[in-house]
Amino acid sequence: MTDKIQNFKNAFSHTKIHLNNAGLAPISRAARDKIIYWGNRFYEEGFYTDLDYMNDVLFSRTKLAELIGTTKEEIAFFQSTASAVSQVCFHFPLDKHDEVIMWDQEYASHLYPWQEACKQSGAKLVLVPSEENLNTPYERILSAINEKTKVVAISWVQFQTGAMTNLEKLGQELKKRNIFFMVDAIQGLGLFPMKMKEWGISAIVGGSHKWLVSPVGVGFLALEMEFISKIKPHNVGAYTFGTCDDPTDLFCEPKRDALKYEAGSKQVLEITALGASVNFILETGVANIENEVIRLTKNFRLKLEENGYIIHSPYTLENHHSSIVNFQKKGLDNKLLALKLPCLYALRGPGVRLSAHAFNTDGEIEQVLSSLTT
Ligand SMILES: Cc1ncc(COP(=O)(O)O)c(C=O)c1O
Repeated sequence: MTDKIQNFKNAFSHTKIHLNNAGLAPISRAARDKIIYWGNRFYEEGFYTDLDYMNDVLFSRTKLAELIGTTKEEIAFFQSTASAVSQVCFHFPLDKHDEVIMWDQEYASHLYPWQEACKQSGAKLVLVPSEENLNTPYERILSAINEKTKVVAISWVQFQTGAMTNLEKLGQELKKRNIFFMVDAIQGLGLFPMKMKEWGISAIVGGSHKWLVSPVGVGFLALEMEFISKIKPHNVGAYTFGTCDDPTDLFCEPKRDALKYEAGSKQVLEITALGASVNFILETGVANIENEVIRLTKNFRLKLEENGYIIHSPYTLENHHSSIVNFQKKGLDNKLLALKLPCLYALRGPGVRLSAHAFNTDGEIEQVLSSLTT
């Protein structure tokens, strides 16, 4: 194990085994320290902190942009992934001649806003069937495209089994066809390298509380500048146009970058904690985190398979590439199976979902395995 990964593991101190990181992960020490820092400064200094906390929010924006592979001017913070999706889909120019394509297993915070936007605009929502094992190969999305397709909106990593779609290949094809490409990246960001610009992605949405090991309560949008100029703000307030110090001006124009989507005052504690965690992830190296997560989950999966468990995975053991292991025991109800576990888990799709982060240890995995195999 590399020093960086050992250092990553040392930066967490949750007392129980946490294997529902695809649900809600514990926060890093860097995030915890940031909250304490701002808590103390707000307590002691109040509004004297104004410029400093604004700079720290800027730091979070800059680091998130770096992680995503875009510019800080194209990042906007929201309260949830659903709000970031809503910002785009309710102001995207759609009409009854258009089609929006998604996978048939998208998470509701991504699916429902697009479904509603289609209802309101008369556009058709096309749900592309996953393969039988819930695999999501990009070729299926490509074959659903026709001249009416305006938007492809998919998750990078599916929340139930960890199925991934090749964004690079899909993005290049969609760019050629001039189709808007939105990716819900919450289940992959921080875990797998992301190159938004290079891969031709128009918009990325996500949230703070999973693989980014920060407090729940921050959603974000990265939107290509070309679309920022076309998509109007969903929420409007002082910060859409300027700052709280600007006099009211009925003729003012919205800001020209993604900041126009942040209507008012922000969740400073949560956003700065997110920035601290993202910085820590960048220092650790996303590729190092990826390797460790694959190592832990592959070992876990192998032992489950050896002990007769059914693994619901779009991957074979040889090419296993997922933080999520979804499993079942023939003849045993999933709820009863889950009761054996000494860790946090989720019941998702066909089985019990466990999802390890790089802070999990071999000892924890062994403990979980022994609860399932003895
Ligand atoms: C794919 C996906 N998107 C989004 C979310 C979170 O959405 P929100 O931030 O709106 O609660 C989750 C998990 O909770 C998810 O698995």
